[in-house]
Amino acid sequence: RKAVTLPGLVAQRQQGNKITMLTCYDASFAALMDRCGVEILLVGDSLGMVCQGHSSTLPVTVAEIAYHTASVARGNKSALLVADMPFGSYATPEAAFQNAVQLMQAGAQMVKLEGGAWLAPTVKFLTERAVPVCAHIGLTPQSVHQLGGYKVQGKTDEAAELLKADAVALQAAGASLLVLEAIPATLGKEVTELLVIPTIGIGAGPDCSGQVLVMHDLLGVFPGRKARFVKNFMEGQTSIDAAVLAYVNAVKEQSFPAPEHCF
Ligand code: KIV
Ligand code: NA
Repeated sequence: RKAVTLPGLVAQRQQGNKITMLTCYDASFAALMDRCGVEILLVGDSLGMVCQGHSSTLPVTVAEIAYHTASVARGNKSALLVADMPFGSYATPEAAFQNAVQLMQAGAQMVKLEGGAWLAPTVKFLTERAVPVCAHIGLTPQSVHQLGGYKVQGKTDEAAELLKADAVALQAAGASLLVLEAIPATLGKEVTELLVIPTIGIGAGPDCSGQVLVMHDLLGVFPGRKARFVKNFMEGQTSIDAAVLAYVNAVKEQSFPAPEHCF
């Protein structure tokens, strides 16, 4: 297939062709996901939990994300490669740019940052300097200690309005993708309709422009507590290729997420 690009993803959104994204941490899985047609590979700081065994994403460093990004880049041919900016790596626009350069030089084509309107100046600083940005709002796992746990966000009218204002501010600052995590499905739909950039949901309902899952959750190998939005796509399959293809097909035909995966 042709390389996945940001303009291509916007066109996909406009055509109603749902975007598929998975986390990926090594070369072999990158090659597998790429050949299964997954459009976006995310080197998520979830690697702190699923690869390193930590109880949160906070201990992950820029060097660790860069190491995994380089591995994924070697296995990938055509998917868009996004790398997470870990906890503490984007406290100022200048620090964010320096750290983003490390990830881009390791092979990332875009970086992802957690936060709302307060991040807009950083998003502007990065995008002006040719670092494409995916923003991430709703449940932002790096803020787990402030949020008091991994909880659904945007449930009150007030919280929903704030989240919508965050989405608009991030798009205006130059973000070209937006991850929405653990928010009511109705809010996922409203945010998506407010924006022209694609939204990628994880527990944000079926009306986002695309979906993302942590690969260990998709394969049913993560031993921790399962979030409501998780589905084990290995069930009924006899290979990892088949499970990833089942995920891609389910997102494309909009059978995933089903109501039982939504808030
Ligand atoms: O780190 C991660 O895996 C993520 C996704 C869940 C969006 O940020
Ligand atoms: Na992450």
